[in-house]
Parts: sequence; structure tokens; C-alpha cells
Amino acid sequence: AAEDGLDGWLRYAPLDLGHKHVSFPTSIVALNSSKDSPVYTAGLELQKGFKGILSQNLKISHDGRPTSSAIIVGTVAEYSKTSNKPLNAPKLKEDGFWLSTHGNTVTILGQNERGALYGAFEYLSRLAQGDLSPATYATSPDAPIRWVNHWDNLNGTGTHGSVERGYGGDSIFYKDNVIYQDLSRVTDYARLLASIRINGVVINNVNADPAFLTDKYLEGVARIASHFRPYGVKVGLSLNFASPQLIGGLNTFDPLDPSVVEWWRTTTNKVYKYVPDMAGYLVKANSEGQPGPLTYNRTLLDGANMFAKAAKPHGGIVMFRAFVYDSVNLKESDWKADRANAAVDHFKQFDGQFDDNVVVQIKYGPIDFQVREPASPLFANIPKTNVAIELQVTQEYLGQQCHLVYLPPLWNTILDFDLRVDNKKTLVRDVLSGERFKRNLGGYVAVSNVGVNSTWLGSHLAMSNLYAYGRMAWEPTVDVKATLDDWTRLTFGLDKSVINTINKMSMQSWPAYEQYTGNLGIQTLTDILYAHYGPNPPSQDDNPWGQWTRADADSIGMDRTVWNGTGFAGQYPTEVARRYERIETTPDDLLLWFHHVPYTHRLHSGKTVIQHFYDEHYKGAETAHSFLAMWKSLKGKIDKQRYEEVLFRLVYQAGHSIVWRDAINNFYHNKSGIADKSKRVGNH
Ligand code: GCU
Repeated sequence: AAEDGLDGWLRYAPLDLGHKHVSFPTSIVALNSSKDSPVYTAGLELQKGFKGILSQNLKISHDGRPTSSAIIVGTVAEYSKTSNKPLNAPKLKEDGFWLSTHGNTVTILGQNERGALYGAFEYLSRLAQGDLSPATYATSPDAPIRWVNHWDNLNGTGTHGSVERGYGGDSIFYKDNVIYQDLSRVTDYARLLASIRINGVVINNVNADPAFLTDKYLEGVARIASHFRPYGVKVGLSLNFASPQLIGGLNTFDPLDPSVVEWWRTTTNKVYKYVPDMAGYLVKANSEGQPGPLTYNRTLLDGANMFAKAAKPHGGIVMFRAFVYDSVNLKESDWKADRANAAVDHFKQFDGQFDDNVVVQIKYGPIDFQVREPASPLFANIPKTNVAIELQVTQEYLGQQCHLVYLPPLWNTILDFDLRVDNKKTLVRDVLSGERFKRNLGGYVAVSNVGVNSTWLGSHLAMSNLYAYGRMAWEPTVDVKATLDDWTRLTFGLDKSVINTINKMSMQSWPAYEQYTGNLGIQTLTDILYAHYGPNPPSQDDNPWGQWTRADADSIGMDRTVWNGTGFAGQYPTEVARRYERIETTPDDLLLWFHHVPYTHRLHSGKTVIQHFYDEHYKGAETAHSFLAMWKSLKGKIDKQRYEEVLFRLVYQAGHSIVWRDAINNFYHNKSGIADKSKRVGNH
């Protein structure tokens, strides 16, 4: 059913034209007849859209004879062959498209087939939103890499279930160690991804099972790839560094050992026999117990380039994760120890030496998807290296889809951040696009972790994050409020109060979540030892995970200054480093990320740290409660099923925000013994 969520924002609900007389195209010409071509898919999608939105049955032809009153969809090259009309389209980048819609004449041309499909989705999105105005424009992506990652395991027995940090049910790819025969959910997913212009998907957990490289599973990987291919989405695989030993029969996985090099070469050749257009590999090495080159005193560079050389002949790329840190030996008793330093410490030294098909994949912040982090300084430290940012659509530390948290405003704080390399404007997004350092490979990755739940992510409203992610990866300056409204119209219809209410709730949601979880850059304060869910501030400290708060009876925060702390602030270029080095110039929202201060320290706002904690937690929980009334005002304007399902989550969120509020406030009240000026916290 349209309401269960499987179609996501591609519902193609009937459009009420009122008294408008509009002439629409009456046929579709798709300039490719081969079934796994995205242009062919575009034809089918246009047909489906017209049926749903306008109740019209359009015929599709593939012979390319230009007719008026038709939608023509294809590549620029194909169109030029068949048309005698000269084309005034501007130059498109890879995957870009040109759309011209004037009543019953619509032309959709892609730089490649994928672009043509994107253009078809764009046209349908306009129709579905009731935008019938004539338009002609071209658009190209900001960056070539626009991927999602899946942390899916073959079995259901992994520590965190079959999708690590997945909150939308088990894997859509695997069950009980087999790859599904019926992959129709993969087709549904591919369709959603293509409509937001995602062009790559890594289908297995970064904590990788080497079995994926055996014939038994590669057969299934090839089937998965064949479901993504018609949608222009390429498949990639996460690798286990120790595979040569674990499944290859070698007694080593030393990346400089010729037998290991040869094993990866032949294995990669085999992989590409199964999936000739595979996107490439993703590698998590020497992190959180994963094997890697350091075991043999080799470098991360040795490891990355070994894979790069194996993938190069096939046009494959290697996404090498910068999430490398020591989670065993880090000691909080050492004032200068700091997990946040790890990425730059590990990668800066190799800048300029990675092969040109290596992309270093960097989490947005230096720790781990927290509610507030500064931009990773690694983006400023490896200008001669291809880089991509890693975001998380799955809300691991951000309420796990039980809380409404619209993430794009958080992502914007990172993408719009100016790192001031060489005292020049250096926005993170301009590093990712390759523009700032003149790189031609780079871009965006999001851990999406959808599952078999019919809402995909486990919550209807969470899907706005996936939708907006794709749009931002294409155009990072896109207005995140307007993007949200597009999503709402496509998902829930055109009622203005629905659009405005969802907008208001969503735009308040990340600030509220930050208020009732962790403030001032102290991190999310969730339980970090197992579930990453619910309040547990003491779990941050006294363990080697390095997500410390250093809270004691008098003071709190990580001293990351150069003069007295871990030195992390010094990893930023001079201007930024100077700003974070001093309390006076550090923004309040990152104060405790960079400085260790007494609870009585006064913020720029004039409040003390502790009073700010108390007040913010009350404000945040109040906002979460206000979502309930807002949502209830939509009763009858949204189908019952989705209305009830969202309501259920919002009731839960309102309650859980109080649990959060009181747990955090009581914890710091007990620790500091400082009374709440408004007499809400503790016994009065
Ligand atoms: C987080 C997450 C892990 C994941 C890791 C990673 O720490 O909790 O489940 O494996 O990130 O990104 O590799």
C-alpha cells in the first residue's frame, strides 16, 4: 500500500488539477531499448509516474523518432544522433542532466544514462509537487562520489544484529547466511537511491566478513548488482584486511608480501568477472579490532595502495577509512592522550603518496557521529589526497529513529565550515568537491542502514534524512528547509499545514536533541559501552574508548589546547587553531570539546556551564513535548496509518526526553553539588 512507506517519497499520489487546463505529453520516447539501461528504466518510471499522478497511460517507444507531445529521455549523445534540432544545452558534468519542460513537450537529456534517469525523476518530482510551470535548466553534481554504506552482516548473530547500528529491521540483502533469492526490496531501494542521485552502494559491513570474496557469495553479489544496475547505482564491497589468511590459505596478510599482493590481484580479477562495473572497495583497517597493515609494521599507505593497484585495471576505486584509532591502550590518566588526534596522526604523513584511485573516507567529526563535533581537521591536512566525508543517516548516537532528528542542519555546520587553509577560504564542501585543492575524485558517503521494515529506516519521518542526504551530496548549498518541504509534499501531499508543521518540528529537532542530551560540545552523553542509546554520562569515562568528558566534582571538559592539553586544536590551520586554543574565542557550543573548565565558568551567554546544562535540558524536553501537539494538529490530514505510527514515536520521544533530562541533570547535580537556580533539579 502507498501508505506503508515502501515507495518512500516516490508515491506518485494523484494530483488534483482543479480547474486548470494543462496539456501534458501523451507518449514517452526512451532512447535506449536495453533492459538494464537507466534510460530504459527512466521510460518505465515516467510511465508509472503519469499513471499515478495524472491517471494517464503513456506508451513507451524506443525508436527515437522525435515527435511533439512526447517526453524524450536519453543521453545528449544519443539525442544528437536522432534529432535535427540543435541542442542549446550547457556543458554537463558526469551524471548531470538537462531538463526542458514546456507543456506537452518535455526533453530530458543526461550527460550519461544515469543523468537521464535523474532528470526523469526530477521531472516527476515537479509534477508530483504540482509544479507545472515551464522550465529549462541544467544541473550537474558537485562531486562524483555520492554513495551509501551498509553495515549489513550475512548472519543475524553479529553483536548488534544483522545490520550493525541498523534500526529498520534486518538486512534487505541477506538472511541466515544466504543472499536473498527474491531481491525485490533491492529494486525498490535502488529506485529510491537513483531518485536522489546516489550512484554507489557498499553492501556489507565495514567490520567485514571475508566470505563475500568467495564464489559462493560473489554469485549473489552479482545478482544484487544486477538489481542496482538499471538504476545507475554501482555496488562496492567492504574488505577484511586479513582475507588472504582467513579464506586464501596463506599464512600472512602482510601487504608487502608478494603472495599477498598476488592474492588480492587475482581475487580482484575474479570479483570483477562477477561484477564488471563494480564501484570498488571500502576498507576499515586497524580500527576497533579489525586487522590491518600495522600488524606487520607496514603502513596504512602500504595497505591502501595495495588495494588500489589491484582495482586500478578495472577502474575501481578504494575508499580507505580514516576512522583509525587505538581503542585498547588509550589511558585517561594521561592528560595528553586523545582519540581525536588519531586521524591526522595516522594520515597526514602520507599526503601525496596515495594512488590516484584511493579516496580517504573521513567521518565528519574527529570522534564518532556525535550530536555536536567540530569538522574533522583531516579535511585540512591532506590537500594532495582525494577525500570523501562520511555522514550517518542511521541515527546511531542521535536517537536511533525513535527520536525525530532532522540531520541536514547538523551536516551544514560541517560542510559550511571554513578551515582557512593558508589563510584562505576553505569550506569543507569545497574540499569534498575537489575545487579547493584541485582534485577530481571525492565526495559524499552516508551510512544508511535501511532494513526490511516497510518504512526502511524504522520511522516514517527519518526518511527525510535519506532524501536530503542525496540532495545535499548533489548540491551541498541546497536549502535544507526547502528540501524538507519537497520531501514532505512527495511523502504526505500538498496540504500547507502538513508541510509547515513537519518543517517546524524537523527544524527544531536537532537543536532540541542536543539540548536534552549533551551540551556545549561534551558529546551525546549516551551509553557508549553497548547500545549507544539512552543517557549514561559516566560510561564516557574510565575506559579506553577515548570519548571522555573528564567530569569531576569541580570541572568538566577535554582540554584539547596546545598550551596545556592534548594539542588537538593545533591540528587545524593557524586561524582556526588560534580560535579554538583560547576559551574566549571558542564558540559556546564547542567549549567543552576544547576546554576543561569549572562548572561555574561563565559562557559568552553569561550563564554558568552547570546552569546552562540544567536550563537546556528543560528547554529541549519541552520542545520534544511540543512536537506532540503539533503532530496532533495534523489528525485527519494524513492517512491514519502513518499518523498513528508517527504519533507513537513522538509520544515515546517526549517521554524519553524527560528520562534524558532528569538523568543528565541529576548526574551533574550530584557530581557538582551546585543547585539549580530555578530549583527544578534535585530535592528542594
Ligand atoms: C561506530 C559504531 C560501530 C562501527 C564504527 C565504524 O563506532 O558504533 O558499530 O563499526 O563506528 O564506523 O567503523
